[in-house]
Amino acid sequence: MERRGLGSKAGIEVPVVGVGTWQTLERAASRGRGVVRDLVGEAISLGANLFDSSPMYGRAERLLGEALEGRREQALVATKIWTPSAEEGRRQAERALSWLGGHVDLYQVHNLVAWRRHLDLLEELQAAGRVGAIGLTHYSPSAFGELSEAMRDGRVQAVQVPYNPVEREVEREILPLAAELGLGVVVMRPFAEGRLLRRQPDPGQLAPLRRYGVTTWPQALLAWILSDPRCHVVIPATSRIERVRENAAGGEGPWLDDDARKLVADLATSR
Ligand SMILES: NC(=O)c1ccc[n+]([C@@H]2O[C@H](COP(=O)([O-])OP(=O)(O)OC[C@H]3O[C@@H](n4cnc5c(N)ncnc54)[C@H](OP(=O)(O)O)[C@@H]3O)[C@@H](O)[C@H]2O)c1
Repeated sequence: MERRGLGSKAGIEVPVVGVGTWQTLERAASRGRGVVRDLVGEAISLGANLFDSSPMYGRAERLLGEALEGRREQALVATKIWTPSAEEGRRQAERALSWLGGHVDLYQVHNLVAWRRHLDLLEELQAAGRVGAIGLTHYSPSAFGELSEAMRDGRVQAVQVPYNPVEREVEREILPLAAELGLGVVVMRPFAEGRLLRRQPDPGQLAPLRRYGVTTWPQALLAWILSDPRCHVVIPATSRIERVRENAAGGEGPWLDDDARKLVADLATSR
C-alpha cells in the first residue's frame, strides 16, 4: 500500500486507499457479530488503515470504535461534526472521542454546516492534543464556492470531496487550490455511491490496464483517482471483506498515464 503525506500541513501520512463507513458498517453488522471487527481488521492488515465516519452515519462511529478496541493505535480515524448547534457539536465530539480511544486523527466539519463555529471547537481540541488535523467536507459542487473560501481561511489542513470519472467538478477550483495551499485531499464517492459499478466493462476492455496492476473495474476507478497526485487518500465504502481486499489492492500502483486514464474515463462515461 502506497502512503502519501496528507498535504504539507496536516502532519499525517495516510494510505492511498482507506475505508468509508456510510451505510456499510451497519450493513456488515446486520450480518452477524464480529463481521465489522473482521472487516476493519482485514483493512488494517492490508495497510488500508484510515477509516472515515460521521455522526450522520447512524451507528457507524460507535461500531468503528468497538472494532478498533485493543488496536486503536494501528488505525487512523477521520470523523466529523454535523450539526448547526455549537453545544451539540461539542457533545458529538465528546461522544466520538470516547468511542474512538480519545483521539481523532482528522476531524472534519460535515457539509460545511456551521463551519466557523465548529472550527473554534476543533482548534481547541487540536491544541489539547485530542485531534490531529482539521478538515472540511462537502459532496455538492453547489457548495464549492463556500468551500474554497473556507480553504483560504487558513484554519484547516484538509478537505474531503467527491471525485470520480463522472464527478469531476473539483478539477476546476478545489484540487488546484488544495495543491496551492498544501491541503490534504480525501476523496469520497470513488464509485459514485456504487453507481459506476452497476454495469462493468468486459475483462478484455481492461486488458491494457494490467500493466498498472489493475485487474478489476473498481481497481481501475481507484487508480484513475490516485493517478492524480493532488489526491492523497480515497475512501471506498464496502460491507464485504473480499471487496476490502479488492479495493486495498488498488492502492499499489504503478499509476496510470494520460492514455490509460482516458481509457478509464471513456469506459465510465459510456456506461
Ligand atoms: N456519499 C456522500 O455524499 C458522502 C458524503 C460525505 C462523505 N462520504 C464518505 O465517503 C465514503 C465513500 O463514499 P460512498 O460510500 O458514498 O460511495 P462509494 O464508496 O463510491 O460506493 C460505495 C458502494 O460501492 C459498493 N462497493 C464498494 N467496493 C466495491 C467493490 N470492490 N465491488 C463492488 N461494489 C463495491 C458498496 O457496496 P457493498 O457494501 O455491497 O460492497 C457500496 O454500496 C462514505 O462511506 C463516507 O465515508 C460520502
